[in-house]
Amino acid sequence: MEELIKLDNISFSYDNKNILLQNVNFNIYRSDFIGLVGVNGSGKSTLLKLITGVIKPTSGSIICNKKIKFGYVNQTTSLEEGAFPATVYEIVSLGICKKPFRFINKEDKNKIEQVLELFGLSKLKDKSINSLSGGQMQKVKIAKVLLSNPDLIILDEPTTGIDTISQEVLLELIRHLHAMKKTILFVSHNVKELEGCTRVVEISDNGIVEVNK
Ligand SMILES: Nc1ncnc2c1ncn2[C@@H]1O[C@H](COP(=O)(O)OP(=O)(O)O)[C@@H](O)[C@H]1O
Ligand SMILES: [Mg+2]
Repeated sequence: MEELIKLDNISFSYDNKNILLQNVNFNIYRSDFIGLVGVNGSGKSTLLKLITGVIKPTSGSIICNKKIKFGYVNQTTSLEEGAFPATVYEIVSLGICKKPFRFINKEDKNKIEQVLELFGLSKLKDKSINSLSGGQMQKVKIAKVLLSNPDLIILDEPTTGIDTISQEVLLELIRHLHAMKKTILFVSHNVKELEGCTRVVEISDNGIVEVNK
């Protein structure tokens, strides 16, 4: 099993007084499909930010065996691009070409079309992202990240704030990405969502534990 990332005795505190994460040891291997659970405020999003390097641990170290590429989707149903009046196609294509409105070659166009099809977004491709539902927006964000071909896809509560049917569709898609051999770490607060996960990890006051399903 190829180890992508190793958290070696990580501790973290936002204010140097209250320790949020203490002595966390946690490895992620290629092709893992990990469900990260824990009550609100337990430090799930913080752990993701440590893994992606957005914040640094107070002590301990995070070891990557090479420069691995993260595909991170944050916890909101909005876009970092904000109210930018772009279409679904334009936003998703940013996963391949970083600059908007750049010439896209035939090969990349095909990849974009394939991902739009996979996510059921083909019919919506010319729609403004401002007109999408929460579930559709979440798909757009994940599709964009998938196109950047990351080693590890990190999804922070992807199903929060969207209707039940869209949640199911999204979960099926996430399971499908795993079937496509993608490595996935996703945060959930609903045990029912963990079907298909190869590992379930729980953060609590007692630290981080691997839960046997
Ligand atoms: N930037 C920050 N500065 C200070 N405290 C924070 C910050 N972000 C989160 N926290 C606090 O850290 C704790 C864990 O937050 P978070 O990682 O978002 O939990 P979860 O994602 O599990 O709900 C919470 O008590 C939260 O208020
Ligand atoms: Mg969170």
